[in-house]
Amino acid sequence: MSTVVTPGAASAAPGTPNRAAVRPGPLLLLGAPGVGKGTQAKELVRLWGIPQISTGDLLRGNVAQGTDLGRMAHEIMQRGELVPDSLVNEMVAARLAEPDTKNGFILDGFPRTLGQAHWVDEQLASAADALPVVAVSIKVDYNQLLRRITGRRNCPVCQRIYNIYLQSPLRDGVCDNDGATLVQRSDDTELCYEGRMRTYANLTAPVVEHYRGLGRFVEVNGDLPVAEVAAGIISAVEKLRQ
Ligand code: AP5
Repeated sequence: MSTVVTPGAASAAPGTPNRAAVRPGPLLLLGAPGVGKGTQAKELVRLWGIPQISTGDLLRGNVAQGTDLGRMAHEIMQRGELVPDSLVNEMVAARLAEPDTKNGFILDGFPRTLGQAHWVDEQLASAADALPVVAVSIKVDYNQLLRRITGRRNCPVCQRIYNIYLQSPLRDGVCDNDGATLVQRSDDTELCYEGRMRTYANLTAPVVEHYRGLGRFVEVNGDLPVAEVAAGIISAVEKLRQ
């Protein structure tokens, strides 16, 4: 079962109350750097109340805390390469063991290699009463992505994601929600972007094909307003969960 969502396919805006009744189960958000995985994950969290598990955020948390994993990961992330599978899988396993994942979760940016994909497929297949995984791939024209990456700014307090070109805050450099000063990720440079895109093409694009082949796969156009992209994902996931 494979679904391609096109503009206008969604029937209602996110946040419609009856949608909360859907048991979303495990979702994978796939796509190149900057396509909007984090932005969409936050929309889905709001609707379904399941956690976003971003391996990028978990790794950045380790970097900020100066853990052994963080010290090792920092250099790799600055080159736009991938942290070894065994370390990332272990980090994800620990997070999935937490009780808030019971009704489902959104894996944002994981799996990113075929090794990670085979590992997570096995983990999820052996989980008692778990729904089968749905993989969502977000696609955006390559030429748009550099602006999305270099223009991105994050709120360190509420984690809201902005873009100085596309999704700007009301006041320059200041979060609309809580007034915190927005920050830029250290890997959001043009130089690092090239490495990240190369890594994506070599190691992560095959993961998208893996899930396309397995079915329960949705491909959405991410080059639309945030709410429209979200509505497309929600409507497709609901159909696959019926
Ligand atoms: P990670 O943090 O996962 O980065 P990424 O995959 O490169 O993805 P991004 O976070 O850059 O983009 P996004 O798709 O979430 O887009 P966003 O919503 O922010 O990983 C960082 C590093 O950690 C990796 O390079 C690697 O080293 C390591 N790592 C992570 N996971 C790993 C793993 N599994 N294995 C090994 N290593 C791993 O949006 C981007 C911008 O676009 C924002 O400014 C936003 O406002 C804007 N935007 C979003 N949607 C729209 C829209 N519809 N219209 C207009 N603008 C939009």
